[in-house]
Amino acid sequence: MIIKTGIKGFDRIVQGGLIPNRTYVVSGPPGSGKTTFGAQFLANGASAGTAGLYVSLVRGAETTIANLNNYSMNIPILIKRNRLFFIDVPSVAVYGHSETQIDPSVIYSEIANFVNVHSIKRLVIDPMSALRFSIRDPGLMDGEVGRFIQHLKLLDCTTILLSELIDPSTYSTEQYACDGLIFLHNFMRGGSMVRAIQITKMCGTAHDCKMRKLDFGGEGLFVAGEIA
Ligand SMILES: Nc1ncnc2c1ncn2[C@@H]1O[C@H](COP(=O)(O)OP(=O)(O)OP(=O)(O)O)[C@@H](O)[C@H]1O
Ligand SMILES: [Mg+2]
Repeated sequence: MIIKTGIKGFDRIVQGGLIPNRTYVVSGPPGSGKTTFGAQFLANGASAGTAGLYVSLVRGAETTIANLNNYSMNIPILIKRNRLFFIDVPSVAVYGHSETQIDPSVIYSEIANFVNVHSIKRLVIDPMSALRFSIRDPGLMDGEVGRFIQHLKLLDCTTILLSELIDPSTYSTEQYACDGLIFLHNFMRGGSMVRAIQITKMCGTAHDCKMRKLDFGGEGLFVAGEIA
């Protein structure tokens, strides 16, 4: 059974939706719509009775919920009904004046525990750069990120990792390790901002490869026509 994100115009460019129990990455620059995309995926599932979990590794869950208040996603109601959960799992803890990094395996355990207890079927983790903050030895970075993703694939839920586009000229470990990679773009053209979406990889799916317009409406993001 395919998982419909319910994001207008998106599912039809990936043959109807996402393959369940896989891990996807949504990557893009600041303000390109990553959080909105993740929240819509969860809220649409939750509205149809599928439990969803949004894990904030850095920006507080409360701030994230407040920022989404503009949209008709019904997030507060879905939270009240225990269909939707927003939790903070900080990757760095502050004790007094010193900061302590938290191991990625501890972050994974907290998430896995919540997923199992609440029968979560849709999971969003925001942002992947924060997971890197939790890795002490830079030499272990790729291995730790890869292991984190392998562990996520063992969970009985469909996961979207939100990943900042730090260096557009190189791909990051999560972009290789995931089952599908979606790029969100925002760039200036003729004095105005153009937003776009592009599927770079979607294993097992004959996906659309065009750059398509992405717009914000009352429900959040929607995918429009091709960019000329
Ligand atoms: N109705 C709206 N309410 C809130 N934001 C809107 C609205 N319409 C358009 N936007 C745009 O959405 C952007 C925020 O989107 P979002 O938080 O999903 O981006 P992001 O890629 O997660 O950003 P970041 O990298 O900072 O986490 C705002 O900067 C704003 O330009
Ligand atoms: Mg965001």
